[in-house]
Amino acid sequence: MNIKVERVSKTGQLPDESRLGFGRIFTDHMFNMDYTPESGWHNARIEPYSPIAMDPATMVLHYGQAIFEGLKAYRGGNGQILLFRPERNVARLNRSARIVCIPEMDEAFVLESIKRLVAVEADWVPGAPETSLYVRPTVIAMDPFLGVRPSHSYRFFIILSPVGAYYPEGFNPVKIWVTDKYVRAVRGGLGEAKTPANYAASLYGAEVAKKAGYTQVLWLDAVKQQYVEEVGTMNIFFVIDGKIVTPPLEGSILPGITRDSVLTLAKHWNLPTDERLISIDEVMKAHRDGSLQEMFGTGTAAVISPVSHLAWRDEVITVGDGGVGPMANRFYTAITDIQYGRVEDPFGWIVPVKLDQ
Ligand code: COI
Repeated sequence: MNIKVERVSKTGQLPDESRLGFGRIFTDHMFNMDYTPESGWHNARIEPYSPIAMDPATMVLHYGQAIFEGLKAYRGGNGQILLFRPERNVARLNRSARIVCIPEMDEAFVLESIKRLVAVEADWVPGAPETSLYVRPTVIAMDPFLGVRPSHSYRFFIILSPVGAYYPEGFNPVKIWVTDKYVRAVRGGLGEAKTPANYAASLYGAEVAKKAGYTQVLWLDAVKQQYVEEVGTMNIFFVIDGKIVTPPLEGSILPGITRDSVLTLAKHWNLPTDERLISIDEVMKAHRDGSLQEMFGTGTAAVISPVSHLAWRDEVITVGDGGVGPMANRFYTAITDIQYGRVEDPFGWIVPVKLDQ
């Protein structure tokens, strides 16, 4: 399939790179493609960024049949633009599609579409430290219909946003609130799909946490409310007695690409890792006996987010010395060094974007 390109003449100033924040500014162009049962995925095009006109009955607005991804384009040395493991995001998009009954897409074509759009918007990839161009591929159900069933028609779009740190704290540690009152996802449900419902389910608990002075929620499993699952919109890691522990992917947890990168690096460095169930009681016990050394979240948006404090019932513990632990620091440095092309990439994770397309 061809990608038609309609270019807009540049409108304004590129943003001030020191004040980007996350997800507020969007570039001049977007990618669009449509699906109908008769034509399949068709009409791939890069065109000026613009609102999507919809019938108020459009299914995505009522039943949330949608999926999305998040990845970043980084500015490396010599003006090069680099993507980090983008094929993983594309594969996960299709996996999410299957879970919410959206027709799958050709993965090589989706990857090509991301590269083409990023190449068109190359000037928007910021160069200041810790900044990048966030890529948000999204699929939404487009039938104007109020019956509950999978839609027949869909829109796939990709938008781009120059970003800085996700949390105002940046790489500084965050305070986390553990809840056994609210749950994010249940096994057999949507938890492992990147679909808006999971984020909607996280909002109320996150607001309660914020009111109590915490940055995010540590989610426990939805059945026993005992086993740790995720933190905010990130996967969670513990360092206990020198071992790197993270919950296994058993259906209710998003299979994070940064999570996988941390595990791969740890194995590469011959550090012990353990993907296993870990209860909140075990975490508190490890704190009491001094074996809980570190705790951090992993995600594309924040990369590594160290945890300084954990509030559980009427106890608030300080993790380690409350600062950035050596392991969090090592993973953060190794991953961002690869992402920005500052070091050799021994894993083949980096995909350069050809700029002359
Ligand atoms: C990520 O950490 O990559 C996320 O999923 C956050 C995003 C929803 C803003």
